[in-house]
Amino acid sequence: MEQSTKKRMLSGIKPTGKLTLGNYIGAIKQFITYQEEYEMFVFIADLHSLTLPIEAKELRQNTKDLISIYLACGLDPEKVVLFKQSDVHEHAELGYIMLCNSYMGELSRMTQYKDKTSKLGENESIPTGIYIYPTLMAADIILYDPDFVPVGVDQKQHVELTRDLAERFNHKYSDTFKIPVPITAKTGAKINSLSNPEKKMSKSESDKGTVYLLEDVNIIRKKIMSAVTDSDNLVKYDPVNKPGISNLLVIASALSGDSVEDIASKYSTAGYGTFKKAVADIVCSELTTLQQKVKEIQSSGIIDKVLEEGAQKASYYARRKLSKVYRKIGLR
Ligand code: TYM
Repeated sequence: MEQSTKKRMLSGIKPTGKLTLGNYIGAIKQFITYQEEYEMFVFIADLHSLTLPIEAKELRQNTKDLISIYLACGLDPEKVVLFKQSDVHEHAELGYIMLCNSYMGELSRMTQYKDKTSKLGENESIPTGIYIYPTLMAADIILYDPDFVPVGVDQKQHVELTRDLAERFNHKYSDTFKIPVPITAKTGAKINSLSNPEKKMSKSESDKGTVYLLEDVNIIRKKIMSAVTDSDNLVKYDPVNKPGISNLLVIASALSGDSVEDIASKYSTAGYGTFKKAVADIVCSELTTLQQKVKEIQSSGIIDKVLEEGAQKASYYARRKLSKVYRKIGLR
């Protein structure tokens, strides 16, 4: 395989539920910007979807939607290694080794783990998967020695843990892994819920606060028009006192490319109705185009081929790295 002189970048999304505008702005849009400049690896983190219960049929559909969205957004399989995590068995194998290289204390300190477990009922058991999840994520990353990992703010802590695990391994067994650096989008690293703008927009948050990339744009428009704001009627970026309006400004800025300041000054006295309509127009126009392309891709029959070729390319790197690890730790 040809060696690239470019810096390397890797990231992934789990096909747990329907993809949201948060995933799009916080992650996918970054991948698109970086694909020219970096040697990119982008994958579907399907093993991660098993950490909480999911129906086989739903997982299959989500996976198909996610790869279609990657392609529809403009990720080019000629430039980016696009693959499915479960097609490259080295992820699970190195995941186990990282698990054995981690401590229970550091895993239980992960914010996402604490959040998810706090939502479980008193008599519900904690699934082990959500506890050990960051060790698999670490393996996903360090198998490929990326320089950078573009993620939303919520995943930054997991990349930091990855750095600790990689450093620990390097220290114990000599230099093996590159230490990756997390990077977040300048605008949109945390898109909040429309109905609860102090909370992250997420696949598991409330439905009316979440914009799904593939849902009917009329519903999306309604959700944006009824986004929670405040009673000032002044469009201004102030995340502490005006989280709803600030969130809408960030969404509009991330999608239009105009700065938050420019948009705020354009609509400062226009009234919330006019401002929300402008945001809805921007979001709906971008998502209408995206949905059209997703349909074309799903009927084109190219998905299997893209994933097959991506898995072959990814396996080349993963195999070499894992056999190095196996030698160092004494399994070979
Ligand atoms: P996941 O699938 O929850 O989210 C995928 C990406 O979308 C970002 N994101 C957001 N960004 C801004 N605002 C939001 N509201 C928002 N919601 C989600 C996430 O930060 C993430 O970048 N563990 C990862 C998947 C993963 C991974 C990896 C990522 C597995 N292995 C290796 C990078 C490298 C996850 O659950 O992301």
